[in-house]
Amino acid sequence: MASFFGRAIAAKLARTLHQSEDLFIPALSAVPVFKKQQTADLRLSISILRTNGALPASGDIQMQTEHLANQLKRDSLVQDIATGSAVINFTINRKLLAQKILEPLGTGHHGKIELHNELFNSLKKGTTLVEYSSPNIAKKFHAGHLRSTIIGNFIANLKESLGNKVIRMNYLGDWGMQFGLLGAGFSQFGSKEQLKENPLQHLFEVYVKVNKEAEHNEETMLAARDFYRQLEQNESRAVSLWQQFRDITVSEYQHVYKRLGVHFDVYSGESFHQERVQEVVRQLQNRGLLKTTEKGTGIVDLSVGDRSNVCTVLRSDGTSLYITRDIAAAIDREEKYHFDEMIYVTDKSQTHHFQQLFQILQVMGHSWADRCHHVPFGLVKGMKTRTGEVVFLEDILDEARARMLTNMSHSKMTKEMDDPEDTAQKVGISALIVQDFKGPLQGDYKFDWDKMLQAQGDTGVFLQYTHARLCSLIRMNDDIDAATFDASLLSEQSGVSVLQHLLRYDEVLYQSAQDLQPKHLLNFLLKLCHLTASAHRDLPVKGSPQQIAQARKRLFSGTCSVLANGMRILGIIPVDKM
Ligand code: ARG
Repeated sequence: MASFFGRAIAAKLARTLHQSEDLFIPALSAVPVFKKQQTADLRLSISILRTNGALPASGDIQMQTEHLANQLKRDSLVQDIATGSAVINFTINRKLLAQKILEPLGTGHHGKIELHNELFNSLKKGTTLVEYSSPNIAKKFHAGHLRSTIIGNFIANLKESLGNKVIRMNYLGDWGMQFGLLGAGFSQFGSKEQLKENPLQHLFEVYVKVNKEAEHNEETMLAARDFYRQLEQNESRAVSLWQQFRDITVSEYQHVYKRLGVHFDVYSGESFHQERVQEVVRQLQNRGLLKTTEKGTGIVDLSVGDRSNVCTVLRSDGTSLYITRDIAAAIDREEKYHFDEMIYVTDKSQTHHFQQLFQILQVMGHSWADRCHHVPFGLVKGMKTRTGEVVFLEDILDEARARMLTNMSHSKMTKEMDDPEDTAQKVGISALIVQDFKGPLQGDYKFDWDKMLQAQGDTGVFLQYTHARLCSLIRMNDDIDAATFDASLLSEQSGVSVLQHLLRYDEVLYQSAQDLQPKHLLNFLLKLCHLTASAHRDLPVKGSPQQIAQARKRLFSGTCSVLANGMRILGIIPVDKM
């Protein structure tokens, strides 16, 4: 949003210093807003200009700052120029500020925003493959999978909004010994009816039972090994049972993901790369990278100096491991999708796994390995529902909806709602997401239903509440046409603060795109909500003279647009009423 002003000021500087405009764009940023405090709008960093060669890097920086500020003249756009510590602050003409921010946002309020800022030009555009969620069939869907799901969805949304082509991939844990156990266990504990009725639950139950059984029953273990061997050898009876488990699981998951507002372009999985694994092993052999240990396992030695780093890629019986399938999968994806970058989202306990994966790809001669990234996140402690430990994603969503519904039943607006359950679900999910995105992703946090569902304070409920309030204001004033408006009527401080804050939106997205952390965007939106609350109080639309009402409505619909746009990127579906 700062792009118009950034370009204009960069042009002014370029003329004054006889340098290229491009040098100044990265040195300009919107000034952070402090409540009830007047601030300038844009800030020029002199130290950036010293590093990028626009200004000489030697000499007293403050003198340089003052000198440059003195050379610059005010004009119809810049109404004030002031210096700070190694910065020059610009205050934009108030009318132009409102006009150039609100005009591009239009009169809609549902968050369709075109982003074009020079900042984004420096970001790589192209195809991004994001792999996230990736639960394991028949096993628990734990908090780590929920985090991966919402973080991956955010990254995919962000990349998409910045103009990348995004492939959203779910890489299911659909192979390995657990299927031996499941296959063997199903004839003993399974029921076709229950599998139809409640597939995820039933598969999980069978899996738990057969695991217990295998602990003391040698025969069960043998049967499991035999079933897994049949699978690896592609025997049709085993494969067809496995296929059934997989299909049912995928369709169940699709259903739950939909509630969460998440979708995937591809449901891939470890099983897809069985055949490729042999090829990978041959390639490792040909390059002299595969060593066989005394125990008969196959390893790749990645040690450097006395730092030992050994990776096992084959079991002694010749079957593949998690990492072997990941190597095959990565190569396959590169061939299929020609991605410009690939992002894996898992908890931080897998950091070493991904380091080894990227190293092996690199030594195999795949230089694109340096375009693969792992986004690690911390642990969630204490994710429980009223009935106990969470086993299925659905349980968390049900609980979030139920709790939110209870909270909402105390509010009188709920009674006017068409579908309170749906609203409760969306708001409940926002609460989960906001709790998760507030801090740095690498951090651990404690799951807390009561805290995340508070209506006041920095929660998802507060975001939704602000959005719904803006929508209601727009609805209640639908007799006011804000297609044209007089931008000079928005000069009160609380309105200006909102505008100044909106100026930062592009920068914040840029920042999130750099380090893939949602906290920048989230904190921006929360602050926008606080500033909006003040503006809402100070700047009534109803009852104000026509032209003032028009301008204010335009301010609120523009704010609503940015809020909705930002929420959607975070993976939150904004509600219009609550
Ligand atoms: N299914 C794995 C788990 O639950 C996560 C998969 C992560 N992705 C990968 N390509 N290894 O731990």
